[in-house]
Amino acid sequence: MRSYSLIAPAKINLYLEIIGDRPDGYHELSMVLQSIDLGDRVEIRANGTEDFRIHCQHPEVPCDRTNLAYRAAELLKTNYPEAFEQYGGADIFIDKQIPVAAGLAGGSSNAAAVLVGLEMLWDLGLTQPELHDLASQLGSDIPFCITGGTALATGRGNELEPLPDLEGLYVILAKYRSLGVSTAWAYQTYRQQFGSSYVRESPDLAARQKRVHSGPIVKAIALRDEMKVVECLHNDLEKVVLPEYPQVLKLRQTFEQCDVLGTLMSGSGPTVFALTDSREKAEQIRAQVQNTLGNPDLNFWIAKFINTGIQLAPGVH
Ligand code: C5P
Repeated sequence: MRSYSLIAPAKINLYLEIIGDRPDGYHELSMVLQSIDLGDRVEIRANGTEDFRIHCQHPEVPCDRTNLAYRAAELLKTNYPEAFEQYGGADIFIDKQIPVAAGLAGGSSNAAAVLVGLEMLWDLGLTQPELHDLASQLGSDIPFCITGGTALATGRGNELEPLPDLEGLYVILAKYRSLGVSTAWAYQTYRQQFGSSYVRESPDLAARQKRVHSGPIVKAIALRDEMKVVECLHNDLEKVVLPEYPQVLKLRQTFEQCDVLGTLMSGSGPTVFALTDSREKAEQIRAQVQNTLGNPDLNFWIAKFINTGIQLAPGVH
């Protein structure tokens, strides 16, 4: 039986601005997304049956139809019934390294890996735009998870423009193990609190989007001016998540007091990250934050920026 083993990287948001409401009920966003080398391994193995089966040891990851990775497989089956007929189902093994419900797109990246892996397993020969379109149907950040690197994401978060690679930056991620934030809750709460200031008219929306394309963070990335990039870190969702979760606020403040280049909550949280220019520095900051907060529920990861999305795992095939 054929199989593919893939690396599915996490992402962080270097910038997240909520611009307004969209007719489809989602929010119009402007984001800068960055892949990091903290990743899950996802193996897709043809199983000669008519089923997809998810295998994952992580207690918080469902192995049923509610898993986005399962829904990715079902979506391909629905769209390419002849291929499913010919090749059959697959076992999907997820070795989870990315924390769950953390604002790091772990579930989305797994689903992206299933799309890429099944596409190869079933010899579909899809173009990048075709794959992108399927990914958009599953979730707003799944197209980015496929291509990865550094990108400007607009629309629902699924319209991507690649940006020059940011190299040489390291990230320390910290998350309370027992804390998870629902993305839907974060956006809904933001709408309740700030909806009155949303941009609604389409000329205004277009002007706002244009401003983002030539905005300071995009310029700083184009110039590969990492020090300027870190000055532009911003996440609108902090305005609703930090007041609701005092622990996360404290974590964010603790990082701010350390000698880091910058710090921010990623996506809808509750992961907070800080940037440094070396792994040694990142290790020092980790020790400092761990000592200051002294909470055994707090987990840390150190990763570096990478310029890839879903990749074949090295040395497996
Ligand atoms: O697209 P995805 O399923 O990842 O989004 C999760 C939830 O986040 C959506 O159900 C929606 O409530 C919210 N969201 C939003 N606007 C976006 C992206 C996500 O309101 N652009």
